[in-house]
Amino acid sequence: MANQNEEMMEKLVSLCKRRGFIFPSSEIYGGLTSIYDYGPLGTELKKNIKAFWWRWMVQKQANIVGLDSAILMSPRIWEASGHVESFTDPLVDCKKCKQRFRADLLESVAVCPNCGGELTQARQFNLMFKTFMGPVEDTSHVVYLRPETAQGIYVNYLNVLNSSRLKVPFGIAQIGKAFRNEITTENFIFRTREFEQMEMQFFVQPNSDQEWFEHWKANRIDYYYHLNIRPEKLRFHEHDKNELAHYAKAAYDIQYEFPFGWKELEGVHNRTDFDLRRHQEFSGKDLTYFDDATRERFIPYIIETSAGVDRTLLTVLVDAYEEQELEKDTRVVLHLAPSIAPIKAGIFPLVKKDGMPEIAEKIFNLLSPHYPVYMDVSGAVGRRYRRQDEIGTPYCITVDSETLENETVTIRDRDSMEQTRVKIESLRLFLLDKIEG
Ligand code: GAP
Repeated sequence: MANQNEEMMEKLVSLCKRRGFIFPSSEIYGGLTSIYDYGPLGTELKKNIKAFWWRWMVQKQANIVGLDSAILMSPRIWEASGHVESFTDPLVDCKKCKQRFRADLLESVAVCPNCGGELTQARQFNLMFKTFMGPVEDTSHVVYLRPETAQGIYVNYLNVLNSSRLKVPFGIAQIGKAFRNEITTENFIFRTREFEQMEMQFFVQPNSDQEWFEHWKANRIDYYYHLNIRPEKLRFHEHDKNELAHYAKAAYDIQYEFPFGWKELEGVHNRTDFDLRRHQEFSGKDLTYFDDATRERFIPYIIETSAGVDRTLLTVLVDAYEEQELEKDTRVVLHLAPSIAPIKAGIFPLVKKDGMPEIAEKIFNLLSPHYPVYMDVSGAVGRRYRRQDEIGTPYCITVDSETLENETVTIRDRDSMEQTRVKIESLRLFLLDKIEG
């Protein structure tokens, strides 16, 4: 089973490279460990995942707004947040083979899992990338690449509150890059040093935190069901005292069963008033909130939902991947939700004559302003279907001899492989219903 899972991951990684989803970064220079680039299809998929999250977390919520804060921020923010002091992992080195490990992920902290050699004592290693602002490279010019997007939200909490008509409870959402100098990176894009987060911080009255924590836990797992992730592959994992981050009173991971085991996909955290209280203390600004209804003044508690874009992308690919043994060959298919599929429809003229390519082009021009569609004119139609199945295209439209008579085309459904005849003029609405329905 372990081998089968490894093989499946190898096939997926190879598909991602071959079809232009994900490439190793700086590849022509030998690559840069654990950094990846997204190719044409990966870029579309990533964009669609972020749009899906934004619709769910911002557009559909009456009391959540968006933000796009800078990656570089005052270094005082990371002192206040506790990251300078506590955002560390325990690092051990093997004295024999020199490999490095995260001590908390090892079964035994005495023996190297690679060569059986002796390990050094664990020392705390800060995960933040440091750089310098301006031409002078000394300690007074240090700035950090943000390790989470959350702090950009906390330090803009007053700006958002003062520039909107929001009242507690309300949320601020943000999608953006984060950087962590991870000791160990693993499993393709699962844990990388540069990645993107989709985070939402929900500001609530102190005594309503438990209720909102339960609300967001339920909401976030429901979101993954709507993303077509198989429910049996999802579960909650509650953090025990040893796992809790320095800021959290309670935390649940939403885990997915990857081929390499159950792993965190998203965290839902009760951060209490830790962050705003610390920023109030370090900045000297009053971050309290006055509630008109109850006539109370308080520092809001924060319920956080924090998901990785890249990890979600890996999850949807793993979950969607299927190999079907057919009579003559193996069909590789990605059962991606139509809303996030990089290409929504393939358009094929059955043959390259009798005016069929021209009609296919007209269909391309009809649909392409609304969705990414792809025209494929060469090769046997069966092979053209396979090429689209492998990249998760949910529908394939074929122009055939009947099209010439009555202006209808066939639409073949990726998952059922059933074909339906539809008038060319109804194609746009047909797809709209399927993709957004
Ligand atoms: N603001 C809270 C926070 O950052 P986290 O549990 O450290 O919490 C949240 O990270 C999510 O960010 C994770 O569930 C994961 O999806 C993603 N993530 C964290 N580190 C990552 C890494 N090195 N590579 C890819 N994704 C990562």
